[in-house]
Amino acid sequence: MSGIGVLPLRFGGLEVGFPVIQAALSGYSDFPMRMISRKFGAEFVVSEVLLDQFVVSVSRRKSRLYFAGQNEHPCGAQVMGNDVLLICRAVERLIEVGFDLVDLNFACPVKKVLSRGRGGNLLREPDVAVKIIDGVSRVIGGVVPLTIKLRKGFDDSDRSRNNFFTILDHAVNSGVCGFTVHGRTVQQRYEGKSDWNFVREVKKHLLKNGNTDIMLVGSGDLFGAEDALCKMRQSGVNGLSLARGVIGNPWLFRDIKSIMFGGVLPERPDIVEQGGVLREHFELAVNFYGELHATTAMRAFAVHYSKLHPQTTNVRADFVKAKTINDWNDILKKWYGS
Ligand SMILES: Cc1cc2nc3c(=O)[nH]c(=O)nc-3n(C[C@H](O)[C@H](O)[C@H](O)COP(=O)(O)O)c2cc1C
Repeated sequence: MSGIGVLPLRFGGLEVGFPVIQAALSGYSDFPMRMISRKFGAEFVVSEVLLDQFVVSVSRRKSRLYFAGQNEHPCGAQVMGNDVLLICRAVERLIEVGFDLVDLNFACPVKKVLSRGRGGNLLREPDVAVKIIDGVSRVIGGVVPLTIKLRKGFDDSDRSRNNFFTILDHAVNSGVCGFTVHGRTVQQRYEGKSDWNFVREVKKHLLKNGNTDIMLVGSGDLFGAEDALCKMRQSGVNGLSLARGVIGNPWLFRDIKSIMFGGVLPERPDIVEQGGVLREHFELAVNFYGELHATTAMRAFAVHYSKLHPQTTNVRADFVKAKTINDWNDILKKWYGS
């Protein structure tokens, strides 16, 4: 795929030139990670999933937890719930604080989430899903674009498949302008391969119904630049959503962008470059969370960053033990140079 053929993602009036976005990642896609993704080429990023109750009840003091930073527009907010009124109130607040797009989560496979009727559970309760879509769509009133994240179904049954398409078709008629589809069922969680044939089927379904302007973003097993572009080309999706592949590896954005626009696959980053990005990420975390929480928050990322280091096991072992900023700086100096 060369740059000449690259089309932007168009979520209503929101245009994203590089059609590869930073996925919603609970526990990861916070402000610091989103800024690092941007540095490497992501032009659109999505918050971690936010519970409607949290959004409506969080105090002003803590509101930066879901506030889109001034330098990070456009940024989408992903929200989850199963009570129409509550989720609508949350959506109003998310728009108020400055998010540029709202994404509904009908995908989360976490047990506690499912047992409360939220996330992926909505794929087996299409009536509730439809009410949420209608309510939120009314509240948004076209002020920002509305999209939905779905898995391919709750399980592999025909009924689940019908639910998926019922929700999709209803959403299109209610003004939803884009979908991200992860090609695994909720029951599968992260097991097995993501079914990109299903993602392709969804695109064909949209096109068959004349919905050429509805964006479809594919998700699942996007770990390498060439493979990701292959999946994009074969499935016909408008864009890709990078998830596990960019935790501790923001270079994947740069790599995909380079080959998508006709360039060569860049060299893997050496340890000096890795150290530089780790330092920058940590600084963003300290500014955002404060010193104490930053070290804990960064541990999860550092474990992933260390996979690129030739001495992964030793580097990882050190990062896991880090408690203070001094520990952190010592480890960076030891393994990545000054
Ligand atoms: C740690 C983790 C957290 C996730 N959090 C979210 C989330 O908040 N919202 C969401 O829609 N998907 C979430 N996902 C799913 C991803 O966005 C993505 O759909 C899935 O990981 C498949 O892509 P991958 O195989 O390329 O990682 C999460 C996945 C992981 C591994």
